[in-house]
Amino acid sequence: MRIGVLISGRGSNLKALIDACEEPGFRGRIALVISNRPGAAGLAVAEAAGIPTAVIDHKEFSTRETFDAELHRALTKAGVELVCNAGFMRILSDGFVEKWRDRQLNIHPSLLPAFKGLHVHQRALDAGVKITGCTVHFVRPEMDEGPIVAQAAVPVLPGDTAETLSQRVLEAEHKLYPLALKLVVEERARVVDENVRIDYDGATVGGPLFVPAG
Ligand code: GAR
Repeated sequence: MRIGVLISGRGSNLKALIDACEEPGFRGRIALVISNRPGAAGLAVAEAAGIPTAVIDHKEFSTRETFDAELHRALTKAGVELVCNAGFMRILSDGFVEKWRDRQLNIHPSLLPAFKGLHVHQRALDAGVKITGCTVHFVRPEMDEGPIVAQAAVPVLPGDTAETLSQRVLEAEHKLYPLALKLVVEERARVVDENVRIDYDGATVGGPLFVPAG
């Protein structure tokens, strides 16, 4: 399966996906990495792995729809079949999301539906939760919504700051995204009635796949 990865920044989840695709027998490969920000560090991560990159700068487009049309054009030209958002910080138009329905994944650093949007770790600390985590889900037009493929739990520890908590969650993200991607490229995770069903050990079970803390 040909994968397109959308990034806006650092690209550490992109690196985890690149490493996963290099595993022997992995059924996906990254055909293109697109950043909406020129100079995003993740572009160098892709280039170091010999993966084609493109910058589609949202500032050069007068509407969300024209930016998304260019994104769609680049992805289809590269033969992309599955899109992975990896720290992609742009809201996509409904039209784009529908074109990639059930063929676009996103990772979010919380246990959705808790803490959608920005400043997730500070909000988790302010709410006093003892467990947070990360979620990989199929993308829907509403922000940080859609059928959940997999979630990993991460403890909040005494004395945590948004920075220390985000680091701990990020480590879990780097394990969870490759795991979820593997299920999707092997067509073992699929959307049925807006829930993810997962083929596991010869049986089909209800999703999401849940990875406990530690
Ligand atoms: C990750 O923590 C990812 O979950 C988050 O941005 C970070 C990107 O880091 N994404 C979102 O908040 C999307 N709603 P990375 O560029 O090092 O992968």
